[in-house]
Amino acid sequence: MHHFTYKHGVLHAENVPIPDLAAKVGTPFYCYSTATLKRHYDVFRAAFGKLDTAIHFAVKSNPNMAVLRLLANWGSGFDIVSGGELRLVLQAGARPENIVFSGVGKSVEELELAVRSNVGQINIESESEMHTLSTLATKLGRTVRVALRVNPHVDAQTHAKITTGTKENKFGIDWTLTPDLYRKAKALPGLDPRAIAVHIGSQITDLKPFEDAFLRVRDLALMLRNEGFNIDHLDLGGGLGVPYDFSAIPPPLPADYGAMVMRVFGNLGCKLSFEPGRLLVGNAGILVSKVVVLKTGIEKTFAIIDAGMNDLMRPAMYDARHEMIPVCEPAANAASADYEIVGPVCESSDKFASDVTLPTLAEGDLVALLTAGAYGAAMSSVYNTRPLIPEVLVDGDQWAVVRRRPSFEEMMALEQLPPWLA
Ligand code: LLP
Repeated sequence: MHHFTYKHGVLHAENVPIPDLAAKVGTPFYCYSTATLKRHYDVFRAAFGKLDTAIHFAVKSNPNMAVLRLLANWGSGFDIVSGGELRLVLQAGARPENIVFSGVGKSVEELELAVRSNVGQINIESESEMHTLSTLATKLGRTVRVALRVNPHVDAQTHAKITTGTKENKFGIDWTLTPDLYRKAKALPGLDPRAIAVHIGSQITDLKPFEDAFLRVRDLALMLRNEGFNIDHLDLGGGLGVPYDFSAIPPPLPADYGAMVMRVFGNLGCKLSFEPGRLLVGNAGILVSKVVVLKTGIEKTFAIIDAGMNDLMRPAMYDARHEMIPVCEPAANAASADYEIVGPVCESSDKFASDVTLPTLAEGDLVALLTAGAYGAAMSSVYNTRPLIPEVLVDGDQWAVVRRRPSFEEMMALEQLPPWLA
């Protein structure tokens, strides 16, 4: 459920008309809804009954400072994957003890920053990293709470590029090696290994792979406990999918996911933490764009919009489909036509949808690509020397630009000619 709805014939974000925003900010831009984000946060939090749980928002899905500030205000923790994200969430108001540092290739500098910042947990992904962290923690006179992230050999049945839990993937420690590494971690100075972490992929639309991975984690936890280790915390990652294509079967609801988690872990007495990204922000954001050109060829009619693959990379990268709707509500009997929805970037992969039937479009029409709040702005680039696009946050009747469009001069500020060409 989200708060982007038609009112008086035009699309609104909560109580703010999208055409007003477009007139003031210029297209394309991302627009986020506070009420939608809050609703998803509350629904997810409520999914686990009386279990002792914590949410660590996956910052990579939407690192906008205002979004992070909202989540911090609501008590969310954060899952980070770089030193940059660590500095960002601290600036957004995160409490260090509510930060989990994941990531498959953390540098020594990043690990040191995390230890010095007293982050709550570092998820170890290799034996080498375990030794580096032990040496670092000892040097700094600290003891760091760590989890070993296991690779459970479970195929998440999602797009290959966002699958992380199979033998072929670089992520995690092969689960068969985990008990041995756990023993080693326990013997190393500066480390306090009490947790097991797992994350098998993203946009997962079936509970079965989650359950398979979680059962494996449960078995490992019980086995390690039998050996006398004090396993009191499990980090179950993120990955629950959201509906992108409204004609397809919707993914499981957070309540179904929660019921499965309670079934698997209900009597284990462990604190459980989750790292949702997409589930919290996906539906809370739209990408507003304008039809620049309509081009009718022999085979197809192209609607060329002013947002490109550099602004929303997911269709080009993962064959993702984002539903597109007109900002002005079409009449019930409006004529329709088939379109290729494409951007202005000089690549054929700059395509948002193929052969879609939409109410007839005209040049200058505003359109909205839905479910664009996760991995949208986060993955955008300046390809084709197109500036990053603004992000707007709405809360009821209020709105603000929370990241502005840079000027051309700002875009060029880091460039410098070598002396022999100046
Ligand atoms: N925890 C870890 C360790 C992760 O690697 C990720 C996502 C998450 C949590 C959050 O997963 P989520 O709940 O958002 O599914 N750019 C891709 C998605 C990449 C996901 C990377 N890791 C996309 O646009 O589909």
